[in-house]
Amino acid sequence: MEVVIRPNADAATDLVARVIARELQNNPRLVMGLATGRTMESVYARLVQMHREEGLNFSACHTFNLDEYVGLRGTDPNSYRHYMNHHLFGQVNINLKNTHLPDGMADDFEAECASYEKLIAQCGGIDLQLLGIGLNGHLGFNEPLSALRSRTRVKILSPVTREQNALLFQSSDQVPNYAITMGVGTILDSRRCLLLATGDDKAEIVAKAVEGPISSMVSATALQLHPECTVILDETAASQLKESNHYRWIFENEPHWENFRAQSPAVASNGFHARLETLPQGRRLQVNKTAV
Ligand code: GLP
Repeated sequence: MEVVIRPNADAATDLVARVIARELQNNPRLVMGLATGRTMESVYARLVQMHREEGLNFSACHTFNLDEYVGLRGTDPNSYRHYMNHHLFGQVNINLKNTHLPDGMADDFEAECASYEKLIAQCGGIDLQLLGIGLNGHLGFNEPLSALRSRTRVKILSPVTREQNALLFQSSDQVPNYAITMGVGTILDSRRCLLLATGDDKAEIVAKAVEGPISSMVSATALQLHPECTVILDETAASQLKESNHYRWIFENEPHWENFRAQSPAVASNGFHARLETLPQGRRLQVNKTAV
């Protein structure tokens, strides 16, 4: 595992987007695993900006999202299908047929989960898995005690998760009780993992995930088993790490990070979010509070 600490949320987000962009440029048929949540909104906004301004090409890539709520149709504004269409798919040149999420309205969930795993395998497996982290350390919706070898299945959501995700619903009792999620084992099968966490509310769980003992109580600790996992943090999310000087030294000295050390001009001039906020549709995109 490598840990990269950037000065603020804008810079951390920009680095994640640039890593994704480089993988996509190197392999236009990239199979991407995608995540949802507020942290990812800025990543997708940056990718949309790269598509518009630099021609970043999504036409041949395939995507598999980590999870979907059980009981929500794709048209429901709280479904992850709707989130992805809104924040990314509807704004870049991706072929919607190549975008996959589990079906939260399936008649037979066992069959749906098995066919999701099969589809990932048929596409050749996930090349790059983007991840956020829940306050309880979940990846996707792998709640505490998710087996470290688990596959795609239905999970019951924990009270912490329902509370955390209630912000996107009108009230907490509207948050579904269940979700379909890729398993921890499914995530570990991807060729590369890229986890982004920003903000001081993530500092404690990030420290547990990165430096704590591997435990199914904190699903993200399983990433310590992954041969190619990069964790990208802002200063506040990194604030409880014990070995942060070591991680900083690696980022400043490892040749493979050379082209990533300088911030994008838009971020360096602090203009990144100012520009994102005036994107089309007259909508103000939600941004992480620590980034503004
Ligand atoms: C949801 C998703 C997770 C994501 C988490 C983080 O629970 N299922 O995949 O990591 O949100 O959310 P946020 O970025 O809003 O903190």
